[in-house]
Amino acid sequence: MPIPSHRITNISEGDQEGWEVYLKAVDMIRSGEDVLMLSIGDHDFSTPVETINAAKKALDDGHTKYTTMQGIPELLTAMAKVSTQAIGMPVPTEEVITVQGGQSGLYAAMQATVNPGDHVIIISPHYVTYPGTVRSAGATFTLVSCLPENGFEPKAEDIEAAIQPNTKAVLINTPNNPTCAIYSRETLEGVADVCIRNDLWLISDEVYWSLSNNMHVSPRSLPGMKDRTIVIMSMSKSHVMTGWRMGWIIAEPEMIHNFMQHNLVNSYGISDFISRAATEALNNAYGVGELSDLFTRRGATFRETLAGTNGVSILNEDGAMYFMIDIRDVTMDAEKFAFELLEKEKLCVMLGDSFGPSAAGHLRISLCQPEEKLRDGANRLKRFVSNYSS
Ligand SMILES: Cc1ncc(COP(=O)(O)O)c(C=O)c1O
Repeated sequence: MPIPSHRITNISEGDQEGWEVYLKAVDMIRSGEDVLMLSIGDHDFSTPVETINAAKKALDDGHTKYTTMQGIPELLTAMAKVSTQAIGMPVPTEEVITVQGGQSGLYAAMQATVNPGDHVIIISPHYVTYPGTVRSAGATFTLVSCLPENGFEPKAEDIEAAIQPNTKAVLINTPNNPTCAIYSRETLEGVADVCIRNDLWLISDEVYWSLSNNMHVSPRSLPGMKDRTIVIMSMSKSHVMTGWRMGWIIAEPEMIHNFMQHNLVNSYGISDFISRAATEALNNAYGVGELSDLFTRRGATFRETLAGTNGVSILNEDGAMYFMIDIRDVTMDAEKFAFELLEKEKLCVMLGDSFGPSAAGHLRISLCQPEEKLRDGANRLKRFVSNYSS
């Protein structure tokens, strides 16, 4: 076969590191073992029935044709309305465009802001696809680490210190996966100041905004940031629609025009019947409040069950649908800990450092399991820690 492009073969270079515990758990499940998975962020229940019914009706009504590159007008109106709520400033329909989920939005944003050979700053710990998304645009990146001591929030001076002559963009995520940090206004003002003074794009992944207990601040709303901030939104987590592939980008109208060109050559627009269902889901906030309450309850159950376990603490309890657990007082070798936890207690968690080196000595657990399983998981972890010798 002819040689594939570097662009494609370079995408995930080395990115599978840190997934060994998860892959082992998957093998154990395949061979019939009863492993409790607290690792992956996909809901343990289906999309709200109202959204499913809206999709069925849209199919019955014949909405099976091409749409437009920006998205159908009803959906853009609904997205603009939700964006206004999320960003905290008016967002007109000219400033939104549909994409196939948040990941597609990240990809498009990177394609639209950096040239091959440019440099991007990724705030880390970070969502696993970020490095590959930057590489796919032919750019290089530097990870700027946030420390647990600072609540995993970035420091402006660290970002500034990582800037190179070819730096074009900073990529942030608030509320954050995996750390659950919800960046404060002060933190974001610091990031904004660096971006403005160095003329950088800010790509702001806000796909978890609705799970922030109303603490979310969007950097797009800060003075001087509107025209340089590209916000990534998604219905995956907020509306329990991971498999539907529906998201959107918020940006200036000129950039929306560029993104239309990107949709033209990439997806040729979003599926019509899914667009109709998404419109209804956004207009009626199907599942949104329930989901936020559910994760708050689940988080409380896990936290209360784990309480009193020596050497273990949970950081950032308000953002997203995960917990980052600090086990540094038990051991710095989280990998050994996690493998033994899997073997002895049949409990699978993610290693913090699979999301970036500054999360070493931490574990990420997902709250995408029913309450009784989370209680069981917390009890297994508690029992394991109390007998652990590193
Ligand atoms: C921080 C973050 N951004 C983006 C995504 C991509 O989500 P989707 O493409 O389903 O919208 C995820 C998914 O887990 C995520 O955690």
